[in-house]
Order: sequence, then C-alpha cells, then structure tokens
Amino acid sequence: METGLTRRGFIRLSASAAAGVYFSGLFKIVSAAEPQPSFTFAYISDTHLYARSPEHRFIRNFERAIDDANSLEPQPDFILFGGDLAQLGQKEELELGKEILSRLKAKTYMMVGEHDWYLDMGEKWRELFGKDRYSFDHKGIHFVVLNSVIEEDFWTARKMSPMERMKTVAGLDNSVQGRFMVGEEQRAWLKDDLAKVKKDTPLIVFSHSPLYKYYRPWNFWTEDADEVQAILTPYEKVTVIHGHTHQVLTNRIKNITFHGMLSTAWPWPYAPEGLPQYTQQMDRADPFNRFDACGWGTADLLKIGQVDKKYYLWDRNPMTITYERVASGVIPQPPDNFHSGASY
Ligand SMILES: [Fe+2]
Ligand SMILES: [Fe+2]
Repeated sequence: METGLTRRGFIRLSASAAAGVYFSGLFKIVSAAEPQPSFTFAYISDTHLYARSPEHRFIRNFERAIDDANSLEPQPDFILFGGDLAQLGQKEELELGKEILSRLKAKTYMMVGEHDWYLDMGEKWRELFGKDRYSFDHKGIHFVVLNSVIEEDFWTARKMSPMERMKTVAGLDNSVQGRFMVGEEQRAWLKDDLAKVKKDTPLIVFSHSPLYKYYRPWNFWTEDADEVQAILTPYEKVTVIHGHTHQVLTNRIKNITFHGMLSTAWPWPYAPEGLPQYTQQMDRADPFNRFDACGWGTADLLKIGQVDKKYYLWDRNPMTITYERVASGVIPQPPDNFHSGASY
C-alpha cells in the first residue's frame, strides 16, 4: 500500500477533490484552474445476478459496489443502474436485484438490459421498476433513459419457449437473433420528448447498448444508432452513457461523447475490430482475480454542461476520462500508472 490509503479512503478523497482538496503522489494533482463539477452522479451496471446462493460471486461483487457507492462523501445526487441486473430475466434474480439496490443511500434510476427483458418481454422488470423509457430534469440537465435492446420477433416463427428466447438473446455469435434497436416508436417518443428542450440545454442519454456501431458479432451495436444520433446532434452538449460492453470505452461522433460503464460481474475483452480510437484501453483482466477489471463509476457534471467520467476499477488505479481530452481529439496513450495490480 504505497500511499497508506485504504480503497474506501481513496474514494472519499476522490469525492473531496471536487471540493478543492488537493492531493499528489500516485494521484493527479487537481489545479485550482480546472472546472469543478456542479454535481456528481454514480453508476452501477451489468450485475448479471444469479439467484442461486447468497455466496455467488456476482452477488458479492454487486454488494461491494453498493458499499463503495454508499461510502462516497458527499453522496452522489443519484445513481443510475445501467441494465443487465439479472442473468436470465428470472423473477428471483430481478427481485434479489431490487432488494440489493434498496440498500443504496442515494436515489436510484433504473435502465433495462437484454438479460432483464427477454424471458417475459420485460413484464416482471416493469412491475418492479416501472417504465423502461423516461426522462427527467436535474440541475439544468435533461436526462433521458432509453430501452435500446428492442429486437424484431425472431422467436414466434421458430416456436421458441421464453427461456429459449432469453438464452438466444443472452448469447453472442448466433445467426438467430436480430439486432438491438431503439425502434421507430421510441425514436418518435424521443423526438417528442426533446421538442420541449432548448438546443443549448445539456443532454445526457442513458442506453444499455452503445448508441453507435462498434462490433456486430458481439452485439456491441445498436442497429438504428444513426437515426438516434440524428435526433441528438442538433443539441449542443450531448453525452451518451451506456452499459452492456463491460469495459472502459470512449467514443465521440460529431458533437456526441459516448462513455461505457464497467460491469460488477465480469469484463469483456475489447472487440477485435471497431474499437473507437478515443478509447484509453484497460489492460486485459487477470483471470485469477475475480474483481479485476470490474467495478463501477461516477460522472462529474462540469459547469459547461459536459461530463468527466470516472471509472472505479477494483484492484487497479481509477481512471478519469475528461471531456477536455475527448473533445480535443487527442488519441490517448496509456498513462504510466495504468497497470493491473495497483492497490489502493
Ligand atoms: Fe451485461
Ligand atoms: Fe447487455
């Protein structure tokens, strides 16, 4: 422990940096000239719960993220859950997820992932959590939560059971399922929702799949991403934060900045092609360490209406992807301290 800090102590220090506390050594020095956030929210995503035993590692990892988020001082304004709460959409998994989420101190907003949806087409999820798409305003920012995992019906003609449908969507390379979409009906809802929003109001959109086309064989892809982007680009300040890809991931298309969320359950490797050049890559996960390359994160809302994204990688140094760096178009190089095995 080079710094003498505990992990939780570090998280507290990170939060206090926003309040003007400076620290050095292993960590970045925060200069007085840097914009301070107007507020912070946190995310937890892709817990993939199996309701098997309370000792299952995915449950314990989720509880670790809850504990970490509850340790933030000051508390974030809210926590966004990024989807894939369950592994196979079963009611026991979703109910367990709701129970664990109820331990969070901060208000929680929910988003749905494909693992939550395709056993009963979202019936249980909606019963527990409400609408799968909605918007809200918070401190001058307009937030939108989308269901981006809609697929065309591939199951009826094949006479699939609900579990066959669920497992097909949960799988990667298969020629059976379609592509994730926001869909025409929801795009019309989005247009209508944004019609009342001024063009200079900052927008933050949450989607489970990335709202761009990264790598189709793994469903790191939203089929109607171009149409959704066209709805968003007239707005001056747009950030999309998504789950599903389980990795540090950054992109910028026109004026839209995209950030991925970490998973608490497992990290996906980077796809063999299509990785956005703006991404500062994580090292490969240590397969012998169940926490490695997993984690959670926060987003600092800068006064300019843009986002600095923090990735709290367990058992590694945290990473901050600043808006300034992404907007400058500089292709990132790995920092000196960007290696697994660091403890804090
Ligand atoms: Fe996931
Ligand atoms: Fe997913």
